[in-house]
Amino acid sequence: MANLTTSYMGFTLKNPIIVGSSGLTNSVENIVEIEKNGAAAVVLKSLFEEQINHTINKTMHSGVDNFSYPEADDYISNYTKQNDVDNYLTLIKGAKEAVNIPIIASINCVSSADWISFARKIQDAGADGLELNIFILPSDPKRDAIQNESVYFDIVEKVKKEVTIPVAIKISSYFSGLANMALKLSWTGIKGLVLFNRFFSPDIDIDNFKVTATNVFSHPEELATSLRWVAMLSSRLHCDLAASTGVHDGASVIKQLLAGAQAVQIASVLYKKGFEQIGLMIKDLEEWMDKHSFENVNDFIGKMSIKEVENPAAFERVQFMKHFSGIE
Ligand SMILES: Cc1cc2nc3c(=O)[nH]c(=O)nc-3n(C[C@H](O)[C@H](O)[C@H](O)COP(=O)(O)O)c2cc1C
Repeated sequence: MANLTTSYMGFTLKNPIIVGSSGLTNSVENIVEIEKNGAAAVVLKSLFEEQINHTINKTMHSGVDNFSYPEADDYISNYTKQNDVDNYLTLIKGAKEAVNIPIIASINCVSSADWISFARKIQDAGADGLELNIFILPSDPKRDAIQNESVYFDIVEKVKKEVTIPVAIKISSYFSGLANMALKLSWTGIKGLVLFNRFFSPDIDIDNFKVTATNVFSHPEELATSLRWVAMLSSRLHCDLAASTGVHDGASVIKQLLAGAQAVQIASVLYKKGFEQIGLMIKDLEEWMDKHSFENVNDFIGKMSIKEVENPAAFERVQFMKHFSGIE
């Protein structure tokens, strides 16, 4: 019988499948279902600083004469912030009581100010690990890459001083020097890097002149980007890698492990087809391991990374030359 155990962020996981941060991981009931269906860990829905601020603003502008006094502003602001944070801490505590798999909390902040207290409170509530969902949209023409990237290091440095639980960073692929950035992040003492987050994408409704949301869920073809980068980076970084985006079936789990990921994070496929997909992926992985006579997951993690493949250039090719794509 194949041994699916893997190690990620210092956790021994019973298999490489983690349910990624999303609305699916925002309730204890769902987390119980996720564990029942065989997932090895969950990353909770991110606690968003923007979301908290939005709640604060909404509360502050809903009353008419509440805010004649500056003290009232402070009170409401602190209360609302506390309340949102408290709900999150309650989720962590509830999840820890209800399941045995590791619970990785997630924070997204747009400024560094509140990170520290959030991180510490999350640790105190019992989270086993912390994933920092950091994304600075490089949209301000006045800020160069170094300025944007320094925010990541500031955040990690501050959080690392505050918590002792393992910390991972989930990043996007929007870096001009992605490999260099990933390498430098892996030197900061983080235990895991998640490649890649996938974001809300805007679209335009041409009849109603509105900006709308599109492609909320990924498609299996989107695996390619993270697969390339996992394969190119896995042998070069000083932390574990989890692959995210486009993992929709057992074959894509296997591909990411072969590329060098220690674990995968899944979300869209579960939204589209239900939690049973976790069990199906595990079954496919076991069958494939039996077929290829692998006893342990570790026997093949990274077997197809850039360091190991016969032709490493295959991962570095980007242009559609006929020779490689077969299409003129
Ligand atoms: C509805 C939805 C909500 C999400 N919320 C979060 C979040 O709060 N924090 C986060 O880091 N990622 C969030 N994600 C991103 C997922 O964790 C994941 O990285 C992304 O969807 C790519 O994986 P997939 O192809 O398996 O969906 C969300 C994704 C979806 C679809």
